[in-house]
This record gives sequence, C-alpha cells and structure tokens, in this order.
Amino acid sequence: MYRFGNAVTMDLYGKSHGPCVGCILGGIPEGLKVDMDKVFAEMDLRKPKGRIGTPRRESDVPEFLSGIEDGTTTGGPICIEIKNGNTDGSKYMAFYDTPRPGHADLPALLKFPDHDLRGSGQFSGRLTAAVVAAGAVAKQFVSGYSIRIAAFTRSVADVTDPEQRDLQSALESRNHQTRACTEELDKRITERIEEAGSQQDSVGGVVECVVEGLPIGFGGIWFDALDAELAAAMFGIPACKGVEFGDGFDLAKMRGSESNDCYHFEDGRIVTTTNHLGGIVGGMSDGAPVVFRTVFKPTPSIARPQHTVNLRTLEDDTVRAEGRHDPCIVPRAVAVVEAMTALTLADQIRRGFR
Ligand SMILES: Cc1cc2nc3c(=O)[nH]c(=O)nc-3n(C[C@H](O)[C@H](O)[C@H](O)COP(=O)(O)O)c2cc1C
Repeated sequence: MYRFGNAVTMDLYGKSHGPCVGCILGGIPEGLKVDMDKVFAEMDLRKPKGRIGTPRRESDVPEFLSGIEDGTTTGGPICIEIKNGNTDGSKYMAFYDTPRPGHADLPALLKFPDHDLRGSGQFSGRLTAAVVAAGAVAKQFVSGYSIRIAAFTRSVADVTDPEQRDLQSALESRNHQTRACTEELDKRITERIEEAGSQQDSVGGVVECVVEGLPIGFGGIWFDALDAELAAAMFGIPACKGVEFGDGFDLAKMRGSESNDCYHFEDGRIVTTTNHLGGIVGGMSDGAPVVFRTVFKPTPSIARPQHTVNLRTLEDDTVRAEGRHDPCIVPRAVAVVEAMTALTLADQIRRGFR
C-alpha cells in the first residue's frame, strides 16, 4: 500500500491489470453524509473521453466496502474498491526486454525482479480512480468548512487559456471534455490532442486549481506548510513534473513592490488587493483564493519508435508503445488534482491547522 496523509490518510492499493484498484481512507470523522451522486460525478470526470482519452474504458463504479452505513460515515476506515474489467496485457510484454523511455519500466524492472508490467502495474494512472473516489469524500468533508475546490485545464501543448479564472469559471470546465473553461478552448485543445494522437505522439499541459473559503491562518508551518503539502500531494500524481503557486516562476522577474499582495479592509474584512503569491504566506492562507498550477508531462507511452536498451541482448534497441494510452493526461488529471487537494485540506483540518 502507498500511504498519503497523517490524520486523514489514504492507503492506495492494486495495479492496472489486477482484479481491482482501491484505497482505505482513514480519519474522516463519524456523521458525514456522503452524497454518492457527487462521488459518481467526480468519477465520470476522470474517465477518458472521445479520442482524447485512452480506448481502455472502464465502468469505474466505486464500491464502499466499509466505513459508510446508510449513506453516513461511521468514523472507521472507508474501504473503496473499483474493479478492473477491460484488461489486455498483450501489448506490454515487449517492455520487459525494451523498457519504454519516460515510463517507470527501467527502474521498476531493475528494482523489483517480479514487476508486473501489464498496464504498467502499480505505476498506472489507473490507481487514480481510487484517489478520485477518496477525494470525492474528502471534498464533501471540507465543504462542511465552506471550502470549495475547482481545477481546470490552463494549457495543453501551445494552447493556453489567457484569462484569469476564478472558482466559478473553473467549475464551468466540468462541461467540457478537455476541462478547458470555454467551448472555444475545448475545441482547440481537442484538436491538439487528436493531432498528437494521430501522429503516434502525445502532449502535456498545465492544470490550475483554485481553492476558496480558507480562513486567514489556515495551514501548518515549515514542513507542514499548506503549500509544501499541496506540492507534495501533486508530485504524488503520476506524470506531474512541477508545481507553482500564484505567479510562480514569474516571481523571479518581479520586484517586492510588485509581488507583495497588499492588504486593505473591505466591508470590515482584511483582503489582499492582488494575488501574486497564490493565497499562501508563511505556509498559511492569507485569505485570498489559493491558486496553484501543476504541469503534467506528455504521456510517455507513444506508438512511434524510440531509442531504448534491450535488457536481454544488452544492446541498443528501439521500442514502440502500442496499446491503449491517453494521448494527453491533462484532461483526466484535473479530477485527480482536485481530489489530492481535498485530501490535503482534509488532513490539515484534522491535524488542527485550521
Ligand atoms: C490519469 C492518468 C492517466 C495516465 N495515463 C497514462 C497512459 O495512458 N499511458 C502512459 O504511458 N502513462 C499514463 N500516465 C502517466 C504514467 O502513469 C506515469 O508517467 C508513469 O507512472 C511514470 O511516472 P512519472 O511520470 O511520475 O515519472 C497517466 C497518469 C495519470 C495521472
């Protein structure tokens, strides 16, 4: 099992072509009414869509085996299991000899002699189905504290959404298969992904997440800092290669007089005039929306030939990752980013960082 969290924990298990994937969600208190329609809605958002997602289609119905009775949490561990139905490992056999560049094959084969490469085993994005189910419960827990979370696709390849987006417009992305905020961007991003797929290639992009409702002071400090833990949670998602808060790496080009988010009173409340720092100072919320972006690399498995080594002949070789893959991870990763954000916030609440 792979553990996330301290007070709210998620122990993830399973692999792509085993009987199931699942997790044990711990630390959610007794008495939370869980709206299963909302859980299923989150699961749907993670499912591959049209030609922009993997042809592997799964029903992805989460079974809650413990911890929820009559729609209400008992306070005990919540075991969530999702069956794997549509498995076909035949296209993965070649990777035992010729590991795919960009995927986990090479280190995994050398480190774990009995590594199961079918569907990429435990390194598969398939496990994020369980993450999204757990995150859907955590989202309902944090919404009890008036915290709202919404993510969307900021960019794919060279197509970037140029507008500043608040939580409401991020929610609009739920109507679009690429999770872009507008129809026009959805169309352009769809074209980019389909084009890459038809060229036996893949593309990456950026997911932006907005969190509203955190009171000033929410978050731990130092190694428990809210930004530190959100970043760690994001890096736990397969294919994440970077996280930035607010203006992120662009802060390097600014002066303090530009980057500081100044305070003023509005209707008796302290608010920031700008949000260059993404709503977090000293590891804690400054009351502005928390805004961060996560970059996902282009999907490593691509059908065009790439250089690799042959572990059997000990010679240089090539490999083509045929089989069923997402030509772009970003649209499906949006739901996963939201889920990991909800789990991080739930964990911080239960540790008293509120
Ligand atoms: C939702 C989701 C779907 C993914 N689908 C694929 C896929 O179809 N093919 C693939 O090669 N990688 C896919 N990945 C990425 C791999 O799991 C990931 O690149 C691999 O485990 C190596 O880990 P790393 O990229 O974090 O180094 C997916 C990731 C996520 C989050």
